[in-house]
Amino acid sequence: MSQLHDRGISGLEWPAFVDLSIQEKAALLMAEGREFHVLLAQQFNRNRLEVLGNLATAIRRIAKSEAGMKFLGSMLAHRRAMLYFTQPSTRTFLSFCAACQILGIQIGEVRDTATSSECKGETQEDSVRTFSSYFDVIIMRSKIGGLAERMAWVLSQSERPVPIINAGSGKDQHPTQALLDIYTLQRSFEKRDGIDSKKIMFVGDLARGRTVRSLSYLLTNYSNVKLYFVAPEPLQIGEDVLAMLKEAGTECEVRYDFDALIPEVDAIYMTRIQDEWDSEQGASTKIDTSKYKFAVRHLDIMKPDAVIMHPLPRRDEISTDVDHDPRAVYWRQMRNGMWVRAALISSIFRRDSEILRYHEEHFSLS
Ligand code: ASP
Ligand code: CP
Repeated sequence: MSQLHDRGISGLEWPAFVDLSIQEKAALLMAEGREFHVLLAQQFNRNRLEVLGNLATAIRRIAKSEAGMKFLGSMLAHRRAMLYFTQPSTRTFLSFCAACQILGIQIGEVRDTATSSECKGETQEDSVRTFSSYFDVIIMRSKIGGLAERMAWVLSQSERPVPIINAGSGKDQHPTQALLDIYTLQRSFEKRDGIDSKKIMFVGDLARGRTVRSLSYLLTNYSNVKLYFVAPEPLQIGEDVLAMLKEAGTECEVRYDFDALIPEVDAIYMTRIQDEWDSEQGASTKIDTSKYKFAVRHLDIMKPDAVIMHPLPRRDEISTDVDHDPRAVYWRQMRNGMWVRAALISSIFRRDSEILRYHEEHFSLS
């Protein structure tokens, strides 16, 4: 860990750190000009998004050949990663596993506190300190909002201040999902002048969906974008997100007319009802969501070069009959997660320049 550090956080007492604004926290976390801990979407400016996107593309191309995979697998073969996922996950967990494997990193995991000493009353703080004794990075998902921040601070006060990557925390943030969403948008619009000036519609459970919150923050990095938030009233986007967009000067509208907006937009970002957050069981079933589902008939009114995205998992908000349409990019979006996460980890451990050099040598003329 010698050349890596989190100088930004370690000088602060917890009450001082936790009381900082999101922007102040993000600035501290990026004090070195690049990420060590990855806790908040606000850590990433446009330049970092471009750099990570290019690195993800380099890794994606290099990984196509056996020789390339051998090279990538040698990059971090001396490192170990801990996956501490105490909230359910399929693709974030597996894409982080796959990203680590691509880079040669060995992995350990806790996915259920019933099988770890947390069930004996050990605190999360002590659990994470234990992980840091054995591993070089901790990738964590928790239903507790802000827990990843707390753990990063705890480790910053310890002898093994290893990086923490937030793989989804409560209702508040899912920063690496937002990175893969941006990468998917970059790739989708690469022949259409990129993400600038695009209209993006978010649909579904916007009140409790952390992916929408994190991606909305990242979209403020682009000029002239317009965001539409389309959901039944009880699931509409929070005032905090609207205030953040206003302050950033990003145009947005709260709307209820899903069908009417479809022909207007360049990207449709569908989301599932997050009923695990219902205050009483079945509360979400009382909300009429029938007007907010993407059906085959909508393909006819969409722009020919627009895309349909979804962080997944889905339920019935996108008909499976839509999957065959080339504009349905959610499976590619999911695979992009593996490349972006490999890019992020290689960057945290400072192997990015070497990967880019390899890419330059083997692909620049092709
Ligand atoms: N998988 C995403 C998340 O963990 C979206 C979802 O679960 O609906 O936030
Ligand atoms: N998109 C996402 O975070 O999926 P999982 O919940 O399956 O990890």
